[in-house]
Amino acid sequence: MSGLSFDADDQVRWEPSADEIRRLGHRVVDLVADHLAGLPDQPVFRPFPNRTARELLAEDLPATGESAELILDRISEQVMPYPFGNGHPRFAGWVNGPPVVLSVLVEALAAALDPSVAGGNHAATYVEHQTLNWLKDLIGFPREGMGLLVSGGSAATIVALAVARHRASDGASRDTGLVQDARPLVVYTSEQGHSAIAKAVELLGIGGDNLRRLPVDADWQLRPDALEDSISTDVAAGRVPMAVAVSAGTVNTGAIDPLLEVRAICDRFGGWMHVDGSYGAPAILDERYRDALTPLALADSVALDAHKWLYVPYDAGAVLVRDAALMRASFSRVASYVREGDDPDGVTWLPWFSEFGFEQTRAFRARKVWSALRLHGRDGYARSIARDCRLAGHLAALAEDHPELELVAHNLSVVCLRYVVAGLAAQTLGDLNRAVLRDVQLGGRAFVPSTELDGRFVLRACFINPRTTAADVEAIAEEIVAAGRRATKLGGSGPSRPCGG
Ligand SMILES: Cc1ncc(COP(=O)(O)O)c(C=O)c1O
Repeated sequence: MSGLSFDADDQVRWEPSADEIRRLGHRVVDLVADHLAGLPDQPVFRPFPNRTARELLAEDLPATGESAELILDRISEQVMPYPFGNGHPRFAGWVNGPPVVLSVLVEALAAALDPSVAGGNHAATYVEHQTLNWLKDLIGFPREGMGLLVSGGSAATIVALAVARHRASDGASRDTGLVQDARPLVVYTSEQGHSAIAKAVELLGIGGDNLRRLPVDADWQLRPDALEDSISTDVAAGRVPMAVAVSAGTVNTGAIDPLLEVRAICDRFGGWMHVDGSYGAPAILDERYRDALTPLALADSVALDAHKWLYVPYDAGAVLVRDAALMRASFSRVASYVREGDDPDGVTWLPWFSEFGFEQTRAFRARKVWSALRLHGRDGYARSIARDCRLAGHLAALAEDHPELELVAHNLSVVCLRYVVAGLAAQTLGDLNRAVLRDVQLGGRAFVPSTELDGRFVLRACFINPRTTAADVEAIAEEIVAAGRRATKLGGSGPSRPCGG
């Protein structure tokens, strides 16, 4: 298959034949199969070679088109061997999981239909509504609420807090903006709240100085007493408490803030409760976390990333908002070119998704989320999520038992730990663990990232991967110990003490 070709009259031969599409499609499917099935035999991570990067960046836009076969050769040689590790059984990085294979494949179907899901009376609109209903059902959120599939937790937070801002400013934020002499709006989160919350607050003109990052307790959860105190101080100073953005699974430690208590506080001062469940909301399916997460149903808005713990390929986030009319009022601006009648059997029947958020043209993200939800069902997800949590528990137990490891935090499927040597100063311990991190990440046998907790540099593992086994978890712990020994020159070339198993 080649790019555009022209006949003598400049007529374009645009479409490949069905046979050509099939031939090319089979090659793509082969690449997908080889990549996904071959992952366990590949290094977990290897950096993209500097030389190839330089060559890529120096290359000019091709003046004439290349054949599709050559382009796939390029992808096969230059791109596929250098993934970020996602999907490898020993990759426990950030909150990056493997893709549901069916969702990978149906991406091509969504792209083949290529609808803009701004709205309109076509299949993709209803598939998205159904998907949103199922996400609401998953967390017990009322179906009357409205939602959108968005790029991820960051976009979801912007949408949710924009609705909260609209309410707190009695709609003025849309017309006059947040003018200097008006009473400042204030947003509250814990010091463990995701940076997406801070970015949304800045972007929405609320101002970073009006984001209160409140202290957490020993379990890394927002302290309700600190929240109450902070709100009282702000009210006394004439500021307007706008929203509390709590976490249902912080990225650092998996902590779930006390949602029910925060709901009660929000009710007392009339504030908006936004729950960042981007990572942790699906853990409501695990009975150990059900009680803590049941109050998700009481939130004014929720962010939930299907591309995290529902294993859907990027990007697939969702925002759910309880008050559909308010959400519409916060964003609706219907351009004349779509305002055509209110006939349910017509083409442009309103409301459109684009009335509920900041994007007009929207991808058919629902296809891959809907397929994954159908494929695994509630029970499949419940088992897999519980299994991910058990694997994290296994790593936490290994860290607790091993004299050279220190367990720093553990909740949901996140574990924070350090390599420790008795008597080392904090700074030296931090440097040691930085060396361990680099060694593990570039060694290609396991992958964990890092974070900081209470000023301590720690390694962090997050398990959202149905392919990972207990043996993989043990191998990750062994890699950390081996790297620690190499860094302290304690272990020499001798074998590390095995972890678990
Ligand atoms: C708890 C939490 N909130 C928000 C986000 C931001 O989500 P996204 O990266 O999908 O925009 C993340 C991403 O890791 C997260 O873990």
